[in-house]
Amino acid sequence: MEIIERERTNFSIKNKDKTVNSEFVFIFARPRYGKSLAVESLLELYHKAGYTILCLSDVKGEWELGYSMFEPEKKYHLDRLRKDGTKPSKKDVILYHPFTTNIPKGSLPDMKIYGFSLKELGRSEFSMISETAWESDTTRLLINASNYISDNAGIYGFIDYIEGNIAGKKDGKMVKRDPNLFGLRVTGGTAKSLQDIASYFLPFRKDYFLLPENSKFNLNWKEILNDNKNYHVFGSCYLKDEKLKEFCVLGLLNAIIKNRKKGKKPILIYIPEIRYLVPYRPEGYKKFLAYAIKSKISIMGNMGKGGIAGVFDSQSYTDTDEDVVKSQTKTFFGELGAKDIDSISKSLRWSKDLIQPLIKSDVDRKSQPSFISMAEPSAGSWTPRFPSHAHAEESYDFDEVYRKIYPEKMKSYDDIKILMKKEYMDEVKKIEEKRKKEDIKLKEESIVKDKSNKDSNVEEISNQKKKINEIKEKNRNRDMKLVYEIYQDDRLDKNQKSVRKIAEKVGISKSTVANYLKDIANFVDTPNNGVVSSKTPQEDDSWGDF
Ligand SMILES: Nc1ncnc2c1ncn2[C@@H]1O[C@H](COP(=O)(O)OP(=O)(O)OP(=O)(O)O)[C@@H](O)[C@H]1O
Ligand SMILES: [Mg+2]
Repeated sequence: MEIIERERTNFSIKNKDKTVNSEFVFIFARPRYGKSLAVESLLELYHKAGYTILCLSDVKGEWELGYSMFEPEKKYHLDRLRKDGTKPSKKDVILYHPFTTNIPKGSLPDMKIYGFSLKELGRSEFSMISETAWESDTTRLLINASNYISDNAGIYGFIDYIEGNIAGKKDGKMVKRDPNLFGLRVTGGTAKSLQDIASYFLPFRKDYFLLPENSKFNLNWKEILNDNKNYHVFGSCYLKDEKLKEFCVLGLLNAIIKNRKKGKKPILIYIPEIRYLVPYRPEGYKKFLAYAIKSKISIMGNMGKGGIAGVFDSQSYTDTDEDVVKSQTKTFFGELGAKDIDSISKSLRWSKDLIQPLIKSDVDRKSQPSFISMAEPSAGSWTPRFPSHAHAEESYDFDEVYRKIYPEKMKSYDDIKILMKKEYMDEVKKIEEKRKKEDIKLKEESIVKDKSNKDSNVEEISNQKKKINEIKEKNRNRDMKLVYEIYQDDRLDKNQKSVRKIAEKVGISKSTVANYLKDIANFVDTPNNGVVSSKTPQEDDSWGDF
């Protein structure tokens, strides 16, 4: 396939037989060089060829591709369109923004507010949120929760489910709930991982776009993927947290791949400044994000015919992940920084002559931005057309332009905010009620347990006492028998039968011997056989001294 029509110095996406292939196009050039203009003209070609166009991020916090809904006004732009014989025009565009409580008050451009179903999230999203590897226990736990929660469970229900699956009690004892952490029972010890997991989800309370499966704010991918009339532009300008902005790109990418079969049209995904998502050496959560995005891009690239086309741009070649760059089917270089030039001339073995056009020359732009193909550097440089629609100029403010051009479409999002808050609070209330019941049950159970513990203690002590008494009784009988036998023994003379002597022989005290003899005397009244004196031991002189 020829992506470039050399003779006309324009981008072309068609083969010579007029068929269109899904390419993976990368464009690298220094800031403000003209990458976005080039991309926009490329998107227009794909759009005309029947592709559904999806732009997944707005790194500048502006609806950059959203400007395609306006006609161009800048002189440089109109001059070039005139020269190319292109009629200035505009696109039908749908803007999408995830729900956040930060959506400003007052009237704003018309956007589709959306969220992601908690049940639709996959391994890569959970790995990124929890900043743990794909195969980690935490990721597994989150996927498990996502599979098992009900269709109406939101983020509070999701976290509550996880609590039920990890910890909540410590050694059966009640642990106090933390109102700042989804009202969970947490302690420093056993529930630590729960604490960590929950805290990763805290930002989603304000940026409340992880929604129940049955929420009407979840995107209808069948509709989107089959809508090749509108440009679909996904922004995140009202999200403050960088991580959450990037999470949305990943979530969208995943959803598109998952739902690909629902769309009957070819698809093109545009991700500006791809190096933010897949930097050369990612740190922190970006490690997990980059890994996930890389795998998605590779899936996209491997989808084959009728798969997904991709357009990516970046200000730096060397700062972008190598594997992602390798997934390209077409790469173009504009003017670049010294580090990139050095790397390209070394790794691609480009001669001085070949590398020359990449060296910055045009500070005050007069010429048109032109690019060199990585595959064919010696074929000269090519100058893409400009898009027929407006381009985001630095001096523009999207809301202002929008208000000027489409004042009737401006709208307030207060109603949606009220509705979302109600849905969130309803879930919180429902779960708190459920937890209250659980807490009461737990308390009752622990009281019953305490009581039964006490009861079983009493029983045990009395058993032990009984046993001790039994042993004592046994010993007593044995000693008594011995005392009796010695006292009865005719072979012994009187002296040897004294209380002291018997006590020594049996190994018990004299008083015990005396008591035994007294008991025996009371029990066996045999005065005449001489076995036992009818006198009490105390009265009998023979009892000796004691
Ligand atoms: N031929 C031209 N004549 C005059 N100005 C031009 C020309 N081409 C581009 N520009 C100016 O350069 C600006 C930058 O273009 P563009 O936004 O496409 O750059 P970029 O490479 O995407 O920049 P960034 O890295 O910041 O995204 C345009 O907004 C326009 O004002
Ligand atoms: Mg740009």
